[in-house]
Amino acid sequence: MSRGESTGRCVVWIGRPSVEEHFGLIRAGWRTLVADPARNGTELPECGDGAIAVVDLRTKAQAAVRILDDLRQTHPGIAWIGLTGAHTQAADPSVRHVLPHAFEIIDGPSSLGALRQALARVPGDPPLPRDDDAPSLLTGNSPAIRALSQNIRKFAPVELPLLITGETGTGKEMAARALHQLSARHAKPFAAINCGALPANLVQSELFGHERGAFTGATARRIGHFESADGGTVFLDEIGDLPLDAQTNLLRVLQEGTIERIGSCHSIKVDVRVLAATHVDLEKAVMQGRFREDLFYRLNVLRLRMPPLRERTGDIELLAQHFLDAFRESYGTRARAFSSSARKALNAFSWPGNVRELMNRVQRAAVIADDALITPEDLELSVDSPAGDRDSLGSARTSAEREAIVDCLRASAFNISECARRLRVSRVTVYRLCKKHQLALDQLR
Ligand SMILES: Nc1ncnc2c1ncn2[C@@H]1O[C@H](COP(=O)(O)OP(=O)(O)O)[C@@H](O)[C@H]1O
Ligand SMILES: [Mg+2]
Repeated sequence: MSRGESTGRCVVWIGRPSVEEHFGLIRAGWRTLVADPARNGTELPECGDGAIAVVDLRTKAQAAVRILDDLRQTHPGIAWIGLTGAHTQAADPSVRHVLPHAFEIIDGPSSLGALRQALARVPGDPPLPRDDDAPSLLTGNSPAIRALSQNIRKFAPVELPLLITGETGTGKEMAARALHQLSARHAKPFAAINCGALPANLVQSELFGHERGAFTGATARRIGHFESADGGTVFLDEIGDLPLDAQTNLLRVLQEGTIERIGSCHSIKVDVRVLAATHVDLEKAVMQGRFREDLFYRLNVLRLRMPPLRERTGDIELLAQHFLDAFRESYGTRARAFSSSARKALNAFSWPGNVRELMNRVQRAAVIADDALITPEDLELSVDSPAGDRDSLGSARTSAEREAIVDCLRASAFNISECARRLRVSRVTVYRLCKKHQLALDQLR
């Protein structure tokens, strides 16, 4: 959150905006400060007299009203817009006493368009885009994640294809959504397709559609993702799994901007931006003949590399607290922070499943924990995690073994039988190794 000497006009969101709301305001040029009672208590943002408060009365209305009252004391002229919804208890006296003072009330599921119009109606200067002040797009403060956010901002408005690389759970899909949200295409569809999850015989039809009677079972025309996402963004996850024939058709989309439904010989113009992601080394796949070289070069014009969590020094605790806060808000669990040994264990662990694994472990720990502070046991992490061991020969061997099994699991899409076959060991051994190295399979998948 930006703070301090801020004098420019800004929006103070009292409550917790969704990612879309937050991005949407930033994109519209509003410097956006968040005063989230669940996170910052009654701490008031330093926002200047010309600020406009957006008071989210959809949940935790009382806490929001308390902050608004305080803010109006320090900034008597502050304008505010209320967001209400099905859960707003308008009969609540604390809510009722503020409502008549709202500049505008937006009812129902928040519509970003309505909000932006309401903001524009508040008298005063319109916002100035201040990109360098915008908050980080992805939770985290490490140099790696800051550089990534900067690249996302640079790449978002460019229409070129883009390849996102990174291990599983590093936030590839999240980055793709941010790219779409920050682009001129944001009001159009974002279609996310996992190429690895589609049966090979259905890929073409899913992506490009088919005509009635194109093949047995094609009883009606079907519009594919590329056509229905016209004007928007198509995110092809696990692009390395795309069969070769579909690769050829994808190349045509990128080169000519056209598709053909299966069973049709008419080209249809489509206007989509293609973002692709992979956790496998595509260069290697090209060398092995599994991926078209020309397609690789087309996709690889812009590249984002998602850093593994273990390289994001400082972010692990931040993310862990972020996930705990969010979970606690929904489920009201007792746990609210991490013990110092839990923090040590979090930092020492090597996080093969990256942010996804961190989120899963924190959520489970929040449910299990008996106290306000989460322990290493709640997280199923040992205080001396393998990655944190002394640099003895034994531990070097242990960590090499761990790396090998993680690599193999990834390459086998976390399928135990496949991993066992590749390693030429039994499935039981794979399970034993997972246990030994604290690899929670259900969380890695
Ligand atoms: N920086 C981040 N801040 C908050 N949540 C994150 C972040 N990065 C990843 N996540 C969460 O972690 C999970 C995995 O992210 P995802 O984008 O699906 O990873 P990938 O596609 O690389 O496997 C998602 O639930 C996502 O919301
Ligand atoms: Mg993914």
